[in-house]
Amino acid sequence: MPERSYVIDPLISAKQIAARIESLAREISAEFADSDKLVMVGLLRGSFIFIADLVRELKMNVEIDFIETTSYGDAMQSSREVHILKDMRGDIAGRDVLVVEDIVDTGYTLAHVLALLKTRNPARLRTIALLDKPSRREAEITADWIGFDIPDGFVVGYGIDYAQRNRNLPYIGKVRFTDG
Ligand code: IMP
Ligand code: MG
Repeated sequence: MPERSYVIDPLISAKQIAARIESLAREISAEFADSDKLVMVGLLRGSFIFIADLVRELKMNVEIDFIETTSYGDAMQSSREVHILKDMRGDIAGRDVLVVEDIVDTGYTLAHVLALLKTRNPARLRTIALLDKPSRREAEITADWIGFDIPDGFVVGYGIDYAQRNRNLPYIGKVRFTDG
């Protein structure tokens, strides 16, 4: 499929993201204040910048791990079938776990990962997503913390891609096609 031409309309600025992460970090620190060492599990690849900024605002001991799930490929539609491409390294039995996702769309990815991690008997299992598109939800799931609710539409930047591009934008923008 040839790549379509598009422009990116700014949606959430780097400054807004930083301010929101500061406040989310305060809530997470309070929730896990009694935790000995929180295991943060980033979902690759989209959450790599979010988790990097988030951990640096947390004043507590954390361990970092990653899970990679099947992605959209270059498509803009969820396949609704989620597979684990790369599992996490650590053991989470009896541990406090926070799953870090970039964006919850249909919800299938987060629902699948949560169901899997539950079988491993963590102590607390919580989720945070930078972005949420509630109007697109198909699976019954909401993240415990959400950075921003956004309307339906395809977004990029701050770790999030379209066909593997635009992850390095420091802000979140909305893709607008210019080829009709
Ligand atoms: P879900 O399983 O439909 O909730 O989709 C989850 C994954 O799809 C997210 O982790 C993203 O990687 C990707 N995704 C969903 N919406 C967008 C978007 O607007 N832009 C880029 N990727 C997206
Ligand atoms: Mg993702």
